[in-house]
Amino acid sequence: MKKNMKNINIFSIAFLIAFTCGLLSAGQLDIPEPDALPETYLEGSKEEKGRQCSKDVAPALGEECSFCHNDEVTDFTEKGNKAKFMTRAAMAIGVKCNYCHAGKKQFTDKLEVAAKMFKLSEMMDIECNYCHSGKDVLTHEGKTAKTAMLLQKWAETGNKKCLECHVEKKQFELNFRGWEILNAQKGLLGM
Ligand code: HEC
Ligand code: HEC
Ligand code: HEC
Ligand code: HEC
Repeated sequence: MKKNMKNINIFSIAFLIAFTCGLLSAGQLDIPEPDALPETYLEGSKEEKGRQCSKDVAPALGEECSFCHNDEVTDFTEKGNKAKFMTRAAMAIGVKCNYCHAGKKQFTDKLEVAAKMFKLSEMMDIECNYCHSGKDVLTHEGKTAKTAMLLQKWAETGNKKCLECHVEKKQFELNFRGWEILNAQKGLLGM
């Protein structure tokens, strides 16, 4: 245990005040607006999906159909399976592939934040839809995460900070320190 158990520092108090009052809920992470996503992105009939693949997916990735599909388009390649995972990510944040991809092995300026988000999700064993529910829409957990990210200065400090209070690979379960903070918060509220 790195820190003294009884030592609830200023930082922790700021943290629980932020949780209690939602003071920072209107804060910004300095993040740009995504492109609008049509409701039917990679959904619908096989023909419709194929059409969107030709129009959006293949150009965004700068790849041929064979990069993701077998010749008869009955099965996915290894990259294709990755693309399926990516489709869920894109749906969760409400954007198209070209929000992050700019041709063969090329990325937009969203690469940095996206890469960190992929790592955060992996570290906590969750998918994007744990926090994102479409374009500019955060879930309840996503809003809590946003407060935490602002407070922990996630943009500079990164994902590891979250492990001070949460258990790795356990969907943001609290560790000992996390419970200590939560109990102190309840104490303040007289619960
Ligand atoms: C970067 C990967 C990628 C590339 C390149 C790609 N696709 Fe796709 N394709 C996908 C994904 C992802 C889906 C949706 C899978 C799902 O429904 O979960 C899909 C779905 C499809 C479907 C519907 C399949 C079904 O059984 O419902 C067709 C047809 C299709 N693509 C045709 C094409 C054609 C034609 C091209 C080339 C112009 C192409 N795709 C290029 C990833 C790709
Ligand atoms: C939020 C950003 C983001 C969106 C949206 C996104 N991707 Fe990606 N994608 C990435 C990043 C970052 C990587 C590289 C890191 C990695 O490979 O894990 C990547 C890698 C991939 C790869 C592996 C490429 C290779 O050469 O190995 C495939 C395939 C892919 N994406 C398909 C898609 C498809 C299809 C879509 C749209 C349905 C999509 N991605 C949407 C960020 C994104
Ligand atoms: C633990 C919660 C959490 C998870 C999981 C998460 N995000 Fe985020 N993400 C956020 C928050 C909070 C913001 C900031 C939103 C804001 O400022 O309103 C954000 C912002 C973003 C942004 C920049 C804004 C935008 O919409 O373009 C991208 C891109 C993004 N997330 C992609 C992803 C992807 C892809 C995944 C899954 C691999 C993911 N996120 C998983 C919480 C999360
Ligand atoms: C100083 C301790 C601390 C740190 C560091 C911390 N959290 Fe938390 N987190 C908490 C506490 C305490 C709760 C429970 C809050 C409550 O229930 O009111 C919580 C709850 C959450 C929840 C809601 C979980 C659920 O099941 O509803 C999410 C999501 C979350 N934190 C994300 C993050 C992220 C992302 C980071 C890193 C940027 C982070 N937290 C860092 C203390 C912390």
